[in-house]
Amino acid sequence: MSESVSLTINGNKYSAAKGAYVLQVAREHGIGIPTLCDHEAIEPYGACRLCIVEVTRGTRTKIVTSCLYPVEEGLVVQTDSPRVIKNRKMLLNLLLARCSGNPVIKELAKEYGIEQPVFGEEYWEKHNCIVCGLCVRACEQVVGVSAISLVNRGISREPKPPFLEKAQSCIGCGSCYYVCPTGAVKLEDKNGVRHIYNWKVSFKLKKCGKCGIQWAPEAQLAFIRKKLDLPAEFFDVCPNCR
Ligand code: FES
Repeated sequence: MSESVSLTINGNKYSAAKGAYVLQVAREHGIGIPTLCDHEAIEPYGACRLCIVEVTRGTRTKIVTSCLYPVEEGLVVQTDSPRVIKNRKMLLNLLLARCSGNPVIKELAKEYGIEQPVFGEEYWEKHNCIVCGLCVRACEQVVGVSAISLVNRGISREPKPPFLEKAQSCIGCGSCYYVCPTGAVKLEDKNGVRHIYNWKVSFKLKKCGKCGIQWAPEAQLAFIRKKLDLPAEFFDVCPNCR
């Protein structure tokens, strides 16, 4: 049996498995903490910083990212102290400056009462990507392909295919698109072809032998077939018709 510790979150006592992260424990108890770069199927990375909380151990208090901070015996956590809210608002203001037109960021900022961004129009940029790396991590950790990576440094950092050319090893599964919190990955299924514009790739979609819908990229199905050693005809019909 795993060892457990007791901690306090927002004045209430909880017990949790030693080594669990504060964010995970808070969520298990229905305590909301905003996040953008967190996904349950992917290792935490601490990129967006929105999940910050205030933790106290003994007489020391500090701000930490809850997605990466392990619980420990006697830890006291505040998820929405004035200091946390002030810092979170600044983070949202920075995100607003980078992604000034993005509806997800604008909505989050609104929830935190930010009507007027701190940084004026002269600082506004039109990115949708917050460089959280979820697309890269999903491709590597969940799909096992690593078709894309984060390139460059500082404000130029961004997810890209190798050498900024077509992502040769992409299988078109769209995991990057599904996990992206801000809709920065552009995917479209059109006329039997899937396009993922960010990685400059297009894939023919497999047509179901029974109902005729075009349901998944052939490259993705070939990848799964090979990995699981499935017979060639395994994906000839879609999951609904099987
Ligand atoms: S969710 Fe923790 S830093 Fe993004």
